[in-house]
Amino acid sequence: MKFFVDSADIDAIAELNDLGMVDGVTTNPSLIMKSGRDILEVTKEICALVEGPVSAEVVSVDAEQMIAEGRKLAEIAPNITVKVPLTWDGLKACKVLSGEGKMVNVTLCFSVNQALLAAKAGATFISPFIGRLDDINLDGMELIADIREVYDNYGFETQILAASIRSANHVAESARIGADVITAPPGVIKALASHPLTDKGLAAFLADIEKTGQKIL
Ligand code: E4P
Repeated sequence: MKFFVDSADIDAIAELNDLGMVDGVTTNPSLIMKSGRDILEVTKEICALVEGPVSAEVVSVDAEQMIAEGRKLAEIAPNITVKVPLTWDGLKACKVLSGEGKMVNVTLCFSVNQALLAAKAGATFISPFIGRLDDINLDGMELIADIREVYDNYGFETQILAASIRSANHVAESARIGADVITAPPGVIKALASHPLTDKGLAAFLADIEKTGQKIL
């Protein structure tokens, strides 16, 4: 399973990248706003830092405009993935941009039918939003499982990029179901290392070695 970092925070991305945890990055307009940076500048910096795909989202609703924005974003670096919303115009833009050989991430997916359309339009990635479905008392994980089943039924090559991940459990369940990629905020990725029994066991080991008075260095 590939790990993408859902962030436009260069320092946070760099910290995880140094550990080999970053297979790619996803950004969106809200993350760009949170970073306080210029979209083109920060995206260029991320692309230089990370080898894998870096999703940068268009900010228009009309297909022609999305295509023009996608072409401009794709000029930033070869690892740019153009992110388009799952609207009819977004699907048109996906078809054109993927036809030009650009990677396309179709975002804001909330149903299996939307995921089917994205695959047929040539999406490289489909981004079903788990957390936002959970927020309205629907089951985000069920959507990941349903898309996996449908894509496997027909051999679609579009990669399932589980997005809007809010917890370590979302990551574990996405891996169990067979999502190709997860994208999660840096804090969630770091939290994957935590377990209360690890903390408890380590405290006991350290207390015992202290009783012996031994040191290694
Ligand atoms: C990633 O591509 C999405 O934009 C992101 O995961 C959305 O997450 P949120 O629902 O927590 O904002």
